[in-house]
Amino acid sequence: MAIRMIRKEGDEILTKKSKKVEIVDDKIRELVKDMLDTVHKYDGVGLAAVQVGILKQVIVIDVGDGEPVHVIINPEIVSTSGKQVVEEGCLSFPNKFGKIERPEKVRVKALDENGKKIEIKATGLLAQAICHEVDHLNGEVFIDKIIPGTLEYINPEK
Ligand code: NI
Repeated sequence: MAIRMIRKEGDEILTKKSKKVEIVDDKIRELVKDMLDTVHKYDGVGLAAVQVGILKQVIVIDVGDGEPVHVIINPEIVSTSGKQVVEEGCLSFPNKFGKIERPEKVRVKALDENGKKIEIKATGLLAQAICHEVDHLNGEVFIDKIIPGTLEYINPEK
C-alpha cells in the first residue's frame, strides 16, 4: 500500500498532456495500485496519473455503489450522447466545487491493467468521471469548465 502525493491547483503539471502507455508492465500495475490506494484514502471517485506527477494515460475510477473499479489506460472516447448538469470536484482542487455540463452517456475504448482491450459504456456518474479524468490526460481541469457563478469554496473543517 502506497499513498502518492497529489498535485494541487497551481502545479504546472496539471496543464500538461499525458503520453500513451507503450507497454502495460509491472511498473504500470504498481502505479495503478498506488493510484487506487490514493483515491480511496482521500475518498475520491477517480484519479489520473498526472495528478500524482506521472504524465502517462492511466486512470482509475471507483464510483462505489456496486460498480466495479475501472482501470482505464490509453482511453479513446468513441462516442458521447445526451447531457447532464452535475456537481463536480477534484482531488487536485480540494474544497472547490461547481456545476458543469457533461455528456449523459459515453463509450470509451481503452486497455485494462493487463493490457487487454476493453470497452466501457457508461452513464451518469461513471460517464461524468470518465470525462473528468480524460480531461486531465489532455491537461484540462474542471475548474475551467464550470458554469459561471456556480463555483463554491467549502472551508475545510479544522
Ligand atoms: Ni480531477
